[in-house]
Amino acid sequence: MHLKFTEEQEMMRKMVRDFAQAEIAPYVDRMEAGEFPREVLRKMGELGLMGIPIPEKYGGSEMDFMSYIIAINEISKVSATIGVILSVHTSVGTNPIVYFGTETQKQKYVPKLASGEYLGAFCLTEPSAGSDAGSLKSKAVKKGDQYIINGSKVFITNGGEADVYIVFASTNTALGTKGISAFIVDKDTPGLVIGKDEHKMGLHGSRTLQLSFEDMEVPSENLLGEEGEGFKIAMSNLDVGRIGIAAQALGISEAALEASTRYAKERVQFGKPIAAQQGIGFKLADMATAVEGARLLIYRAAHMRQNGQKCGKEASMAKLFASKTAVEVTTDAIQVFGGYGYTEDYPVERYFRDAKITEIYEGTSEIQKLVISKQL
Ligand code: CAA
Repeated sequence: MHLKFTEEQEMMRKMVRDFAQAEIAPYVDRMEAGEFPREVLRKMGELGLMGIPIPEKYGGSEMDFMSYIIAINEISKVSATIGVILSVHTSVGTNPIVYFGTETQKQKYVPKLASGEYLGAFCLTEPSAGSDAGSLKSKAVKKGDQYIINGSKVFITNGGEADVYIVFASTNTALGTKGISAFIVDKDTPGLVIGKDEHKMGLHGSRTLQLSFEDMEVPSENLLGEEGEGFKIAMSNLDVGRIGIAAQALGISEAALEASTRYAKERVQFGKPIAAQQGIGFKLADMATAVEGARLLIYRAAHMRQNGQKCGKEASMAKLFASKTAVEVTTDAIQVFGGYGYTEDYPVERYFRDAKITEIYEGTSEIQKLVISKQL
């Protein structure tokens, strides 16, 4: 493994960094007030950022996986909200169709998702099936040339805004996880009911909704993969998704570290900058070391993924460590800023609120430990 990025990857980093400063930073306050960033996503689509790793044949940018991870990382430094929208849209909203779809499904959906004309969402979690995703209760019954789906989902990122939902439901409850199937569901499908919009601690510009399926009629041709293949589709795409969320967590940590370092050099107490006082200097050293550790775990997982190696354990390690780091580093950032850090005048309170969810979604830290320990 070479710790050197290619010219293409460096260009991606610069392009996304410039875009984030020019187009996302001015939009942060509007997102904090609850606005969904449609306008920013449209511009990202024009730049090819909504389909970075998707093959050109299906309208994507066909860049390598590392470039995709770099993009999420850079965007999340400025806005973790846009980071999660992009990660969910690509890793678990579009990739399942790219990897498991028929040629017809790919032609129909992927170019629109990759260009950003469509936004994707992933519907696995249910009120009584969160960490235990395999115990989901939604049912799909085949009737003629369609499936009738009933059930409900919670915490659906991009819910209500998405054009395409990847929905998991059981076609044979007796078979447990092997009875779960995946479906591509268009937003205007009869019986798809948009429910409560969650008011979250952070990620205010991202929509998180409840959905219910009331005799939802999905054409048989929208079955993704084979009947019973759904759990495998969910899990294998989550392996990839977790590297994206780890990159989001890294972006939040980097932003908090940069802000803290800058502030600690400017803020003078007891006659010298607080950065020169060991209490704060050592804190910054610990923060920087943890951030570097998270970065290396993410690059390693991404490198393995890019080379087609199995990387479930490494993806979970990257997410586990990067999310823990994000929570710790943003907590320390507020401490460095003191009373000012607790106000909305500085961005560190936002970083702190945005960091916590990275330990919960796409598998809690406890689930990451389960995945890792099973493979030891
Ligand atoms: N790739 C492919 N197949 C996999 C797999 C993977 N990574 N992991 C498991 N499978 C297969 C297994 O091989 C097994 O099949 P076989 O019996 O043929 O081998 C089958 O799936 C069942 O596996 P397990 O027995 O390990 O399943 P389990 O019920 O014990 O659950 C779990 C495993 C890891 C705990 C899983 O339930 C899990 O990941 N839970 C967390 C759910 C989660 O991450 N939700 C995130 C929601 S999406 C989201 O958050 C998006 C967002 O908004 C940001």
